[in-house]
Amino acid sequence: MATGLVRRAIARVQSSASAAKLVISRAHASESQAQQVEPQAKSTHSLKTFQIYRWNPDDPQKPELKDYHIDLKECGPMVLDALIKIKNEIDPSLTFRRSCREGICGSCAMNINGCNGLACLTKIDSEGSSATTITPLPHMFVIKDLVVDMTNFYNQYKSIEPWLKRKTSPVTPGKEIPQSKSDRAKLDGMYECILCACCSTSCPSYWWNPESYLGPAALLHANRWIMDSRDEYTKERLDAVNDEFKLYRCHTILNCARACPKGLNPGKQIQNIKKLELLGS
Ligand code: SF4
Ligand code: SF4
Ligand code: FES
Repeated sequence: MATGLVRRAIARVQSSASAAKLVISRAHASESQAQQVEPQAKSTHSLKTFQIYRWNPDDPQKPELKDYHIDLKECGPMVLDALIKIKNEIDPSLTFRRSCREGICGSCAMNINGCNGLACLTKIDSEGSSATTITPLPHMFVIKDLVVDMTNFYNQYKSIEPWLKRKTSPVTPGKEIPQSKSDRAKLDGMYECILCACCSTSCPSYWWNPESYLGPAALLHANRWIMDSRDEYTKERLDAVNDEFKLYRCHTILNCARACPKGLNPGKQIQNIKKLELLGS
């Protein structure tokens, strides 16, 4: 009898122990379920609106700002990532230039929220609730959407003859022309230019005289060759830009320096040309 009571008591203890185990394992299960559920709860959408300038030369409609909504949780951090996502997933007709995706080629220059810059180096404003507005570089002829005609800009660059010009042969034919470290350093702040045109298209003087004023980018390159110790056409280069319109439309407003995505200061280089013109006159 006593043995039977002991056995039943042991069985109860065992069953309550296994019940406790069950409760504990249920608690663990619901804990891990909670852990599984938690990330889902956090991953709510983060929608951002992009207002993008659209114009198609084959369509007689006026240009328009078109809204696109994308989930920032499924997009890279840069404005170019958003443009690529829109083109790949929403609207393949959206047209823009890009190549390197790392601020080297200069082809993704555009106006983002009112400031010129490179789409691949400009972070999406994920904090603000307002839309991000993207338009082509200002005061340029539009070919389609965000692609502008760079012909005049490149012709102006070509006009300053951006290559080494010599009157004498190198000391050792077929060998490079040496340059001291200090002479090489004089090219800092100019050789880094990637010809993106952010500066020229932010310059009010260039807006009003795009044909006759060379603009900050071309003048920065003019100074780059004027300052190159290996070049032997310094005087001719200074004479070529010494013109009321080509050079002296710059009024040192310095919009160009604010716009440059490479941190260059074309206005300062233009000042240097003006100083050398004064010294030479
Ligand atoms: S400093 Fe000269 S080139 Fe630069 S934005 Fe002003 S006017 Fe234009
Ligand atoms: S100076 Fe700066 S903004 Fe101007 S073309 Fe060169 S890299 Fe672009
Ligand atoms: S893609 Fe080359 S600079 Fe932006």
